[in-house]
Amino acid sequence: MLKGKTVLLGVTGSIAAYKTASLASALKKLNADVYVLMTPNAVNFINPITFETLTGNKCLSDTFDRNFEYSVEHVSLAKKADVVMIAPASANVIGKIAHGIADDMLTTTVMACRCKKIIAPAMNTNMFENPIVQDNIDTLKRYGYEVISPAVGYLACGDTGAGKMPDPELLLEYILQETVCEKDMRGLRVLVTAGPTREKIDPVRYITNHSTGKMGYAVAKTCARRGAEVTLVSGQTALKAPEFVKTVQITSAKEMFDEVTARAQEQDIIIKAAAVADYRPKYVSAEKIKKHDVKADVTGSAQTDMAVLELERTDDILAYLGEHKKQGQFLCGFAMETQDLLENARKKLKKKHLDMIVANSLREEGAGFGGDTNVVTLITEDEEVSLGKMSKEETASHILDKILARMARRQREE
Ligand code: CTP
Repeated sequence: MLKGKTVLLGVTGSIAAYKTASLASALKKLNADVYVLMTPNAVNFINPITFETLTGNKCLSDTFDRNFEYSVEHVSLAKKADVVMIAPASANVIGKIAHGIADDMLTTTVMACRCKKIIAPAMNTNMFENPIVQDNIDTLKRYGYEVISPAVGYLACGDTGAGKMPDPELLLEYILQETVCEKDMRGLRVLVTAGPTREKIDPVRYITNHSTGKMGYAVAKTCARRGAEVTLVSGQTALKAPEFVKTVQITSAKEMFDEVTARAQEQDIIIKAAAVADYRPKYVSAEKIKKHDVKADVTGSAQTDMAVLELERTDDILAYLGEHKKQGQFLCGFAMETQDLLENARKKLKKKHLDMIVANSLREEGAGFGGDTNVVTLITEDEEVSLGKMSKEETASHILDKILARMARRQREE
């Protein structure tokens, strides 16, 4: 994923320095070329040999070390870098960079870098809240540095508060956000829906479906990595809300309808991957329905144990969006079928006034609910493109490529 990318990791003197080893390792597993730069204080917290073993590159801390491969190491590294992350960033290094002080390998290299720089402060809460540190952080932000808010929790010094370095998984997300995709969706506002809806029967029970939300989440995440401003309206899933996406959690089809339609007019693209209930119980009982409370059909002994649940139609959100589509907006639906896939999907494309529908069959191996792969056909008014079995992330990329190509074509024709 990061092949050909150079990541510089700056490590300063903070107890959180040990966590950066996992980050270096994760980056290396994604094939990044990783260089770790340490301040002289950082080497008191973690041995450079750890980073050298994990990255396969010399760990740099002393500007005047004469065993360098290049003549002016900090400048050549700065030129190669696709992204720099300083994690953990101490109050000291934040202050130095904010004031243009470059007196060691880390600060001189950062000063020479033109790429994106991300800072993850980690320190005692009182230090972090000190107005001088806060001013320095604001200065860095003003100069285009991205500053990750520290996590709140129990700190190594025994205090509790803001100052913890976020987990390596989150730091990795920031690096991926910066490096893995071309920002070809910058300036576009995208709304994605994902997951199942739940329709209440009583306080204990509900009707739902097998959707896990994986496909919609992959679409939302990929849109964000490509630079779009993304809102994800999600049913209840086990998935973690993606970073760099505004996630709105809903439960029922009605809530999804309200949240989606309230935002629809601001969107350039709407992608409806959610599995929305078509029916909901007509009456929701305020109390738990007891067995004998159920309206049983007791006309014959064979039916004594039957219960009848009256259902009413929910609103079709996508059909509503199709009818109220704003000029230039791109509307993409999904069709999950068990039979006559393409025929049914084509009907939905027309009926709901969509620009594209992503058809997938529950019958196809590697497609459908829950798995990490999908097999889909992208259907537009005059094109049908069948994609082979691939990860949901790759499927998401193809869907977005097609949407952007169609939007560009539409603009050319206008
Ligand atoms: N959809 C929606 N609101 C609904 C039902 C469906 O917005 N109340 C959207 C889904 O998010 C999906 C598309 O419509 O993008 C197609 O959903 P699907 O369940 O395949 O089809 P339906 O239109 O519900 O038709 P049927 O259940 O009869 O196949």
